[in-house]
Amino acid sequence: MLSVHNIHQYYGGSHILRDVSLTARAGEVTVVLGRNGVGKTTLLKSLMGLVPIKSGSIALEGREIQRATPYQRAHAGIGFVPQGREIFARLTVEENLRMGLATKPGGTPVPPQLYELFPVLRQMLHRRGGDLSGGQQQQLAIARALAAGPRLLVLDEPTEGIQPNIIKDIGRVLRRLADTGLEGVSTGPMAVLLVEQYYDFAEELADQYLVMERGEVVARGPGSEMREKGVRQLVAI
Ligand SMILES: Nc1ncnc2c1ncn2[C@@H]1O[C@H](COP(=O)(O)OP(=O)(O)O)[C@@H](O)[C@H]1O
Ligand SMILES: [Mg+2]
Repeated sequence: MLSVHNIHQYYGGSHILRDVSLTARAGEVTVVLGRNGVGKTTLLKSLMGLVPIKSGSIALEGREIQRATPYQRAHAGIGFVPQGREIFARLTVEENLRMGLATKPGGTPVPPQLYELFPVLRQMLHRRGGDLSGGQQQQLAIARALAAGPRLLVLDEPTEGIQPNIIKDIGRVLRRLADTGLEGVSTGPMAVLLVEQYYDFAEELADQYLVMERGEVVARGPGSEMREKGVRQLVAI
C-alpha cells in the first residue's frame, strides 16, 4: 500500500529524517515507536506533504506521490489524524466530519457507518467540537479522517491524553479497519500506520513495528517479536 524509500528531511540546517524507509501493508497495523523529538511527527508530515522532503520517494499503491500536495495525497487515499487532533473548536461535530469530505464532490453525505464506529458522535452531532472531551475529539478526528474512505489511515499518537476506556475503543476500531475495512466507506482491509508512545497499546496492535532514534529507523520487525527484542526498553523514557 505505502512504500517509503530513503527519505531525508531538514528543518533549515537540521537534518531531521535520515534515510527512513518503511512499508505499510493493507490488512496490517504498522506501528512507529520512539521517544519525544526523534522525528515521528516529521515523518508523518512528510508522508502527508505538509513538510517538504529533500530526497527519497513515497509511493501509494505503486504511484509516486512525493511531489503531490496534501490535498492530492488525501484524494489518492490517505486519511490523516494529526497529533493533538486539530478539531475545529467552533464548528459542530457534523461540520468537522464534512471537512473530511473536502476531496469528494459537493453534497457527498457523511457515511452513516462512522456513527456505528463511534456512536457518541451521533449523539453529539450538533455540539461544537470545542465542547467535546479529549477522547470524543480523538474519535471525531479519526472519523473525519475516515469520511472520504481512505485506504491508508495515518495516526499520530491517538492515545495522548485520552482516558483508558476510549483508548480501548480506539484500539478495537483500528484492528477492525485493518482486518476488514469499513463497509460502505473503504473497500477491503485498510493499511493503518500508527505513531505511538504508549507501549502497551502499540504492542497489542502491531503487526509490524519500527523504532526511531534521532531521525533514523534503528529497529524493525513483526509485532509478535516486540517483547523478545526488548522494544519496551528501547523506547522507555
Ligand atoms: N517546525 C519545525 N521547525 C524546526 N524544527 C522542528 C520543527 N518541528 C519539529 N522540529 C524538530 O524536529 C525534531 C523532530 O520533531 P518531531 O518530528 O516533532 O518529533 P516527535 O514527533 O518524534 O516527538 C525535534 O528536534 C524538533 O525540535
Ligand atoms: Mg510527535
